[in-house]
Amino acid sequence: MIVSNWKLYDASLFKGLAKNQVEHVLGAMQPRRMEAGEYIFRMGDEGVSLYLVAEGRVHVFRNSLEGREKSLAFFSPGDVFGEMSLVEARPRSAHAVALEDTVVLQLFADHYRHLIQRYPLLAHNLARIIAERLRRASEEVVLLSFENARVKMAHALLKLYHQRLGRATEHGWLIPETHKRLANHAGTSRETVTRVIREFKKEGLVEDHPQGVLLKDLEGLEAILWGL
Ligand code: CMP
Repeated sequence: MIVSNWKLYDASLFKGLAKNQVEHVLGAMQPRRMEAGEYIFRMGDEGVSLYLVAEGRVHVFRNSLEGREKSLAFFSPGDVFGEMSLVEARPRSAHAVALEDTVVLQLFADHYRHLIQRYPLLAHNLARIIAERLRRASEEVVLLSFENARVKMAHALLKLYHQRLGRATEHGWLIPETHKRLANHAGTSRETVTRVIREFKKEGLVEDHPQGVLLKDLEGLEAILWGL
């Protein structure tokens, strides 16, 4: 496959590989075009491949027993997901949905095993990606279990910003989420989100926007997160 998106060469999965080696790996991947809203896989599906996002955006989430959606991550071009089932040979640990029209490149387990024999760096890169995810997940467990609502909100807003959910505007970064959806991200109630957002607005950290919430002061949100 000819990959038009040059950004893919900078993907974390390919760190340290030469251009021709990256091309070889990309050549072993199968492109899949997904429409906005289409499931790439569902939690519990057999997982026989990992995915690299070439274009668009992917949302990975789980549902609680009461049916509430809990976002785990948003992925953009250059990001890898679905690596857990590939490595462990266990069912998918979450749902993955295309948030917009999206192209993902699928790498099947047998191809992956051949490729890592030839390019061991590929396996090391995947291990690094998994370690980064574990580090972030541990941080989140601590923040969500011990900290107060302000910390949870600051964490949720910054996580969405770092995962590039939304877009830059001249007034700040726009997170296009309702208070209800922010409550799912932060692991708290909608009422609490509304109360904390009101406080954050008074402190000049965020502003209302017809499509969601505008982040005005990223450093101020970081300071809340780390109790500075
Ligand atoms: P897999 O279990 O194959 O399918 C779901 C994917 O979602 C999983 O692999 C990871 O790629 C991704 N995923 C699951 N949990 C998290 C998490 N806490 N943070 C980031 N990504 C995750």
